[in-house]
Amino acid sequence: MQKTAEKILVTGGAGFLGSHLCDRLIQAGLDVLCVDNFYTGSKRNVQQLLDHPRFELMRHDVTFPLYVEVDQIYNLACPASPIHYQWDPVQTTKTSVHGAINLLGLAKRVRARILQASTSEVYGDPEVHPQREDYWGRVNPIGIRSCYDEGKRCAETLFFDYWRQHQLQIKVVRIFNTYGPRMHPRDGRVVSNFIVQALTGQDITIYGSGAQTRSFCYVDDLVDAMIRMMGSDADFTGPVNIGNPSEFTMLELAEQVLRLTGSKSKIVFEPLPQDDPKQRQPDIALAKSRLGWSPSVCLEDGLKETIRYFKEIV
Ligand SMILES: NC(=O)c1ccc[n+]([C@@H]2O[C@H](COP(=O)([O-])OP(=O)(O)OC[C@H]3O[C@@H](n4cnc5c(N)ncnc54)[C@H](O)[C@@H]3O)[C@@H](O)[C@H]2O)c1
Repeated sequence: MQKTAEKILVTGGAGFLGSHLCDRLIQAGLDVLCVDNFYTGSKRNVQQLLDHPRFELMRHDVTFPLYVEVDQIYNLACPASPIHYQWDPVQTTKTSVHGAINLLGLAKRVRARILQASTSEVYGDPEVHPQREDYWGRVNPIGIRSCYDEGKRCAETLFFDYWRQHQLQIKVVRIFNTYGPRMHPRDGRVVSNFIVQALTGQDITIYGSGAQTRSFCYVDDLVDAMIRMMGSDADFTGPVNIGNPSEFTMLELAEQVLRLTGSKSKIVFEPLPQDDPKQRQPDIALAKSRLGWSPSVCLEDGLKETIRYFKEIV
C-alpha cells in the first residue's frame, strides 16, 4: 500500500497565522487537519482550502481533549490581540494552559512532534534590548495582559516539562509582531489599525508619543520559520525568536501607511494603555544559526500586500 502523506494538525488554523500555515502545508503536499473554535478566526480565512482533498476543518475548542491520529502538531490556538484576549481573560488563560496540556497529551499518545506558537510577550516590558532567548523577562503577573503573557509562559513550562519528563519532541517559537493579509480588521493591533483608519479616512491613533518602537515581520517569513523549526534537528527545542529585527517607531509606521494608501487621515495621539511595552525587538541570531532563517520581506512590500487585502474587505 502506498504511504499516505504526513498528517499535520494545526490548532487555531482558521486564524491569521494559522490559515497561512495551512496554505503552505497543503502546497507542500501534506495532509492538514485544521482545528479551530472560530473565536477570532473564521471559515473565510480557509475557504480556498475547503474543497481540497487533503484538507479537513474541525470545530473544536482546545480546552477540551482531542483524540485524533497525527504526525505533527502546530499549536497556534489562542487569541493574539489584546482586545480579543482581554475580552474573556479567564478563557485566554485556559486556552493557553489547558490547550497546551491537551495537545501535549495528544502528542505523547501518538508520539507526534509538537510546536508551540509562543510570543515575545513572555519578555514582558524588557530591561534588555534586543531580547535574546536566554532573557527571562519582566512580566506583571496580575495586570490586564497577564492572562496572555503568563498563559503563554506557563505553556512554555509545560512544553519543557513534557520534553524532560516524557522525552516529547518539542519545538517552541517566540513570535514577535507579525502582520499581513487576513489580520482581523478590528483586532486593535497597530498595523491593521493604521491601515483600516487610513483606508476609511479616520484619524490615525497613536498611543503615547509615537516614539515607542516595534519590529514587524511579514507573515510569509514567519510561516517559513515555523516550518523550518518543525523540521529542525531533534535536539533543537528552542525557544527561538522569530521576528524581523528592523525597528520602526509608531510614528514612522503611521507615516509609511499614509504614504502607501495615499490617505488624507490625520495622526492623533492618545494615552498609552497599561503595561504597554516601550520597545520590543528580537535578537534572531539563534534562528539564523540553527534554522538558516532570516526575514526577507521588507516593511514596504509587506505593507503593500496587507493594504491590498484590507482594500477588499473594508
Ligand atoms: N500575530 C502575531 O503577531 C503573534 C505574535 C506572537 C504570538 N502569536 C501567536 O500565534 C498564534 C496565532 O496568532 P494569530 O495572530 O493568528 O491570532 P488569531 O486570533 O488570528 O488566531 C488564533 C486562532 O485560534 C483560535 N482559537 C482561539 N481560542 C481557541 C480555542 N480555545 N480552541 C480552538 N481554537 C481557538 C481562534 O479562533 C483563531 O482562529 C497565537 O497563539 C498567538 O499567541 C501571534
